Amino acid sequence: MKTLVLNTLGKEALDQVNALIKDKEVEVVDTSDMKIAHCMGCNQCWLKTPGICAINDDYEKIIKKLVETEILWIVSDTRFGFLDYKGKRVMDRIMPMLNMTIGFRDGWMRHELRYHPLNVGLLYKGPADQMMMEDWCNRTAANIGGRSLGAIDIDYNAKQVVDAMEEKPVVAGRPEHLVIINGSPRVAKFSNTDKIIHSFVKGLEEEGVTWELHNLSDRKLWDAARDAFLRHGRILIAFPLYVECVPSLMLEFLSILPTGRQVPCQLSFLLHGGMDEGNEFRLAQRFLQGLPAQLGCSYGGTLIKGGSFRIRTTTGEERAKMVAPWVPMGKLFAQKGSFLTPEAERFIGPEQYPWWVRKMVSLLFLKKVNRGFEGFAKSLGCTRRLDDKPYSR
Ligand SMILES: Cc1cc2nc3c(=O)[nH]c(=O)nc-3n(C[C@H](O)[C@H](O)[C@H](O)COP(=O)(O)O)c2cc1C
Repeated sequence: MKTLVLNTLGKEALDQVNALIKDKEVEVVDTSDMKIAHCMGCNQCWLKTPGICAINDDYEKIIKKLVETEILWIVSDTRFGFLDYKGKRVMDRIMPMLNMTIGFRDGWMRHELRYHPLNVGLLYKGPADQMMMEDWCNRTAANIGGRSLGAIDIDYNAKQVVDAMEEKPVVAGRPEHLVIINGSPRVAKFSNTDKIIHSFVKGLEEEGVTWELHNLSDRKLWDAARDAFLRHGRILIAFPLYVECVPSLMLEFLSILPTGRQVPCQLSFLLHGGMDEGNEFRLAQRFLQGLPAQLGCSYGGTLIKGGSFRIRTTTGEERAKMVAPWVPMGKLFAQKGSFLTPEAERFIGPEQYPWWVRKMVSLLFLKKVNRGFEGFAKSLGCTRRLDDKPYSR
């Protein structure tokens, strides 16, 4: 079985990596000086050129290696108790290894594998939430059909736990003005987050709350977003789930924010993703609970809902129906000032579908949904099968 190690720490971790991995069948790739962009969520690798990423950079070499690999280790630094953006980035780009089409595997709805299962492990350096790192490995490996090899701290001499940050008191009462940051890497025009935000703000407006929107998909706008983050007291970051947590692009933005601030601030989150069930979002929710204190803010809760992938593939009334539930949540946020309410907690829906719902979805809907994806791919000009294997020998 071939093993690939993606060392995002470069020379800094080379000795530890070599000490841990002595097998000749192991290939260590130093990604620290490779040109690797963030996944921008364009979905071309699923819908337009199945299996081939639209970004023309060094990651193509990695995908070609992954196709011949069964074991993947990621070597990463940490930030906010989790992988840093460079470690997360190499995993966010792994999408071409999966197909657009979905099915149930081990009781959970998942994308089908384009090639074969991958076992995934993590070697990390720096303070981290060990449980969160292990959970991330379990979830990520399961998504790609494999099992987790565990999360191992290679920073033997350092303190092993994240410093407990001082909890800031919740900023009570209705907001007058809300700064909204769209953390999706996808250009705003195509972003599902953008459509959800525009539904949510209708509820804010009904209650007289003003708002401004900043998009992280365009780096030229980061200075303005950072400035708004520092000057205002009520911030909402809305974003899509990417490989079980925050998109690497958003992690990079968060890592350039100063941790001290003059203006007291409450930071809330609006989280959504392609899969329907609540369990999908629990790791990211845990990450978000600990994040505001590390940025000098208080936590205003996280509003979560799955099933957002299809927003982009729908139009007109069907799309309006999909985003409508976010309007009353905007109104509620305006009234209560946070998502720390029972109504917001319930919004996530069922944790897992009962077995008979899974069976029914499998029998009655999945074929239709997958055919819908094929139709949508054709409309984008795709001429290949969605399960094409461009790098297979
Ligand atoms: C790289 C990548 C990773 C993703 N990982 C997940 C995931 O782990 N779970 C999930 O439910 N959806 C996942 N999705 C789906 C997105 O969350 C979903 O399509 C969302 O609607 C995209 O919103 P946007 O258009 O604003 O970017 C992923 C999408 C991409 C591109």
